[in-house]
Amino acid sequence: MERRKFITTTGGFVSATMLTTILEASSIMTLIGCSSNSKNKEREDYTQFDKPILKALAIGLNAASAHNTQAWKFKIISDTEAEIYIDEKRLLPQTDPPTRQIHISGGCFLETLAIGSTLIQYQTTISLFPKGDYTQSEIGEKPFACIKLTPQKESNSHPLAEHIFKRHTSRLVYEGNIISDETKDTLIKESASEYSRLIIQNKQEEIKPYLDLFKEAMKIESFNLPTNEETRRMFRFNSEEIETKRDGLTFEGQGTTGMAKVFTKMAVKNNEESWNKKSNVDAGLEKFNKGVDSSKGLVYWITETNTIKDWINVGRDITRFLLVLTKNDMYAHPLNQGIQEYKAMDETRIKLDSLMKIEPNQKIQMIVRIGKSEKPFVSYRRHLNDLTKG
Ligand SMILES: Cc1cc2nc3c(=O)[nH]c(=O)nc-3n(C[C@H](O)[C@H](O)[C@H](O)COP(=O)(O)O)c2cc1C
Repeated sequence: MERRKFITTTGGFVSATMLTTILEASSIMTLIGCSSNSKNKEREDYTQFDKPILKALAIGLNAASAHNTQAWKFKIISDTEAEIYIDEKRLLPQTDPPTRQIHISGGCFLETLAIGSTLIQYQTTISLFPKGDYTQSEIGEKPFACIKLTPQKESNSHPLAEHIFKRHTSRLVYEGNIISDETKDTLIKESASEYSRLIIQNKQEEIKPYLDLFKEAMKIESFNLPTNEETRRMFRFNSEEIETKRDGLTFEGQGTTGMAKVFTKMAVKNNEESWNKKSNVDAGLEKFNKGVDSSKGLVYWITETNTIKDWINVGRDITRFLLVLTKNDMYAHPLNQGIQEYKAMDETRIKLDSLMKIEPNQKIQMIVRIGKSEKPFVSYRRHLNDLTKG
């Protein structure tokens, strides 16, 4: 207890040792049934932590992140303050050379935390780049944000806060009709995009050429060895890996269940030859294409410039939108392959930008298909005590 107090009040990083005491207490809570969501093995129960800052960080961990990398690490400054860093060991150099999607994920984390902290009656103030702007080589050395919690005057939580734990990416086939103009207007209004231009396409003839382009882009990424191998490195092939590593992508998350999962697991092994075998890649693409063809709407976020700050801020807009979708019983599946910045994707990316009439300095930061589906797989999150800097 003394050690924990020392670390949290003197600006040390959260460490496994430090959290042992808290976690022991929480195990007892779980045993006696006091924990609010103790049955949820995928995500840590934020109520187990005693300090507001730890509770808020644990809520933030529910955010979406590219490849479920959860590339975040934290430095605790006080019971109500922390610095947030990108974890430089968790980047995606092949699919995300500029670290754009990793920083968008950072923005997703900040917005999830800011909305979620109202559940514990705290307001969050976010300061970006508290130690100054950084270059690529300083990622992980300087924080991208500092968060400060202050007690709220009223006990109301943010209207989107309760949806944080129900938001999941669904790569399943979407059912029903294309979204109506009324739904489109509701989504735009409720998500109140602040830092980016939000475009929703909801006409079948309008979305068709884009769907074809997204399928083409996924084919390029899947048959491009470096990017496909990066996905393999982030893939968790069995329950043990899923439950111990608590990050990355899974067959279940791709919507492969039942007997199909059994056969897929028999065919696709965790080695370069099997993962990149044409028949295995084709099977994955066939599944992806079915999902894409079932899109009930396409959503794009576009920024006027393409800076690290834009990436973080657009992550905040995206998060609000995703929570609004959850509130409206809908899901999203990002289709970002065609906007990624590696050589093999150059031609397709230029084609997409031209179709969307994107000006030279502008950037499409994220694309998702939306619609209704069955409840998808719930992805795991790492434990707060594993998010240690250095
Ligand atoms: C910046 C960003 C890019 C993403 N790109 C893709 C993508 O191209 N394809 C995809 O299937 N999921 C994509 N995702 C979704 C993540 O894989 C997902 O958030 C992560 O696996 C955690 O799962 P969850 O959203 O269900 O919590 C992206 C998420 C973020 C934040």
